[in-house]
Amino acid sequence: MDKLIIKGGKPLKGEIRISGAKNAALPILAATLLAQEPVTIANVPHLQDVTTMMRLLGSMGVHLSVDDHMQISVNSSGVENFYAPYDLVKTMRASIVVLGPLLARYGKAEVSLPGGCAIGSRPVDIHIKGMKALGAEVEVENGYIKASAKKRLKGTDFLFDVVTVTGTENLIMAACLAEGQTILRNAALEPEVEDLARFLNTLGAKISGAGSDTIIIDGVEQLGGGHYTVLPDRIEAGTYLVGAAMTRGHIKIKNIDPTIMSAVLSKLREAGAEISQGDNWIELTMNQDRPKAVNIFTNPYPAFPTDMQAQMMALNTVAEGVAVVTENVFENRFMHVQELQRMGAKIELKGKSATCWGVEKLTGAPVMATDLRASASLVLAGLVADGETVVDRIYHVDRGYERIEEKLTQLGATIRRDS
Ligand code: UD1
Repeated sequence: MDKLIIKGGKPLKGEIRISGAKNAALPILAATLLAQEPVTIANVPHLQDVTTMMRLLGSMGVHLSVDDHMQISVNSSGVENFYAPYDLVKTMRASIVVLGPLLARYGKAEVSLPGGCAIGSRPVDIHIKGMKALGAEVEVENGYIKASAKKRLKGTDFLFDVVTVTGTENLIMAACLAEGQTILRNAALEPEVEDLARFLNTLGAKISGAGSDTIIIDGVEQLGGGHYTVLPDRIEAGTYLVGAAMTRGHIKIKNIDPTIMSAVLSKLREAGAEISQGDNWIELTMNQDRPKAVNIFTNPYPAFPTDMQAQMMALNTVAEGVAVVTENVFENRFMHVQELQRMGAKIELKGKSATCWGVEKLTGAPVMATDLRASASLVLAGLVADGETVVDRIYHVDRGYERIEEKLTQLGATIRRDS
């Protein structure tokens, strides 16, 4: 099993390019199931989760090819099965986003229930409720969601009880080809939802209001093809910026839209970072100062993202002062705490809050990645720790970070992969 071996103590310095957003690329790839004509997608990140989605679509009969720049050409005219098996869905919960497009275009879908995962139970009840509201018949049997629609789905007025990102995406995709108008209320505002809607509109869908909490979809008979460029990954960008702040460094990240990162940038400023930004870049310097501890409350966009909680906690472990991190989105997203404690962090967990007293130094240790963002926090902790940190099970990191050790090396870190 691959490990990352990190020698801490060097400030991150230099420039890197941010990759395309994983959480936009995955639903966009799934949405190609709706397209009658060929589609090309650019700026797709080279990640394990993208490979999993491509395998899943391939197993259904979608034809995909990738060029040297990770531009993916997709032709979904040959889809012949409508099945997402457990062994793929269990490795990537986002596989659930094939449910909406399969149902809308083919009137049938059989998708494994994702089950629990390291960060909580994460049910998909709202996805199912939404499909039913669009007129589908849905049964859950033998661990599978079995959905069918005898005729075209029918537009509806649907209120999400809980704000759900992939739930909103699934319903947008299903409603695209439904008869009449669908109104989604209390929809997720995440930029990745907006990116998916922009992509679908490129293919001929009629979606308005994406990026707000009310999305209106006027169903069309069919979608064509087209070309689309995936938006940059705000979580990858945030991870490197936090890394620079923790190591008291100075970096510039390119190919990023700063306007989708306001919550993270404002917390980094509060931590003492000096940040400047342009249309598609962000520069951060700490002027070699120790960061200050910052309180974090995770919530759906535009609030502070749960996907940046672990990384910000890593910053707090070495910051000046005390801070409380409150996780409001997932009930069990503190798996990194125990591992950070192994490196000398002083953290006390109580319910959905973690109080962190910043220490002068962390110490290198063997630690284990438990989920994607938890692993990123351990890598960041390794960058500031005294001595060597070995992060095991980094397949979690590879799900969401493209060439992390290469990008960190480019920024001056001492890090290598051991297979
Ligand atoms: C997406 C992101 C993930 C991010 C999360 C929250 C993708 C591929 N993944 O995950 O990186 O951490 O948003 O920003 O985009 N819920 C229900 N019932 C449902 C669906 C969700 O109760 O049917 C609850 C979940 O348990 C959770 C909350 O809603 O407490 C938000 O989860 P959700 O937005 O659905 O997360 P994902 O879309 O799975």
